[in-house]
Amino acid sequence: MTKIKIFSSAKQLTQAAVTCFVELAQQSIAKQDGFAVALSGGSTPRSIYQELAKSEHQTFLNWEKIHLFWGDERHVPPDDPESNYKMVKDALLKHIEIPKENIHRVPAEKTVHEAAYLYEAELRQFFVEDWPRFDLVLLGMGTDGHTASLFPRSAGLEEEKRWFIGNQVSEIRKWRLTLTKYAINAARNVIVLVQGASKANMLAEVLAGPYSPEEKPIQLISPVNGEMIWMVDADAASSLPENVISYFSGS
Ligand code: 6PG
Repeated sequence: MTKIKIFSSAKQLTQAAVTCFVELAQQSIAKQDGFAVALSGGSTPRSIYQELAKSEHQTFLNWEKIHLFWGDERHVPPDDPESNYKMVKDALLKHIEIPKENIHRVPAEKTVHEAAYLYEAELRQFFVEDWPRFDLVLLGMGTDGHTASLFPRSAGLEEEKRWFIGNQVSEIRKWRLTLTKYAINAARNVIVLVQGASKANMLAEVLAGPYSPEEKPIQLISPVNGEMIWMVDADAASSLPENVISYFSGS
């Protein structure tokens, strides 16, 4: 089931996403004694990670039972300003008590294919099912319709067997590392965080426009046996047709 929740401001979106994260963590830990989440990179989720690090949330978050993975990573060392790991470390990891073994960093300092194989091996060691059943995958959306590091017209969109791959992104002339579409779609919960007017046209194209995943890879994301929630602010939702809003918000 896909739903959309629209928030009047980025601050409200952040608060709601933190509440969702805490609730899902508590439910998963109560049910299966653990919570495995794939974090998103980019700038949108930073405020969520910073909020999760605040003392008032710590009593509700049992970090001993929470395993942090990355949905994608740039092909850079962990101390590089571009690194998604560094962004999460600065916003969250430095400020919480979480066992080191619960932090599953992508070894992006290695060659891109070595990093992808090693990370896939780590995922396969942690998830013993056919696909990695994350309790939560956090995603963002680029203005070009990419998500994680599944970029338009990139080879990684076609991958049907691997869980985690290197993906060459010609537009930015760089290699990235990313969960594949089927790995993301195996999740119990997917939350897509979209904020800002710059995303408005693409969000309307993705939710109300034609299905063209080569051009808009985030259209590939639809959990096979899970929930998907778009958490967007009013600016990002400003081009959405009314009928799409009511369809996805269940009203
Ligand atoms: C990354 C992200 C990427 C991001 C989008 C949106 O590594 O950058 O995983 O997919 O979510 O590019 O980024 P913003 O949140 O910065 O707009």
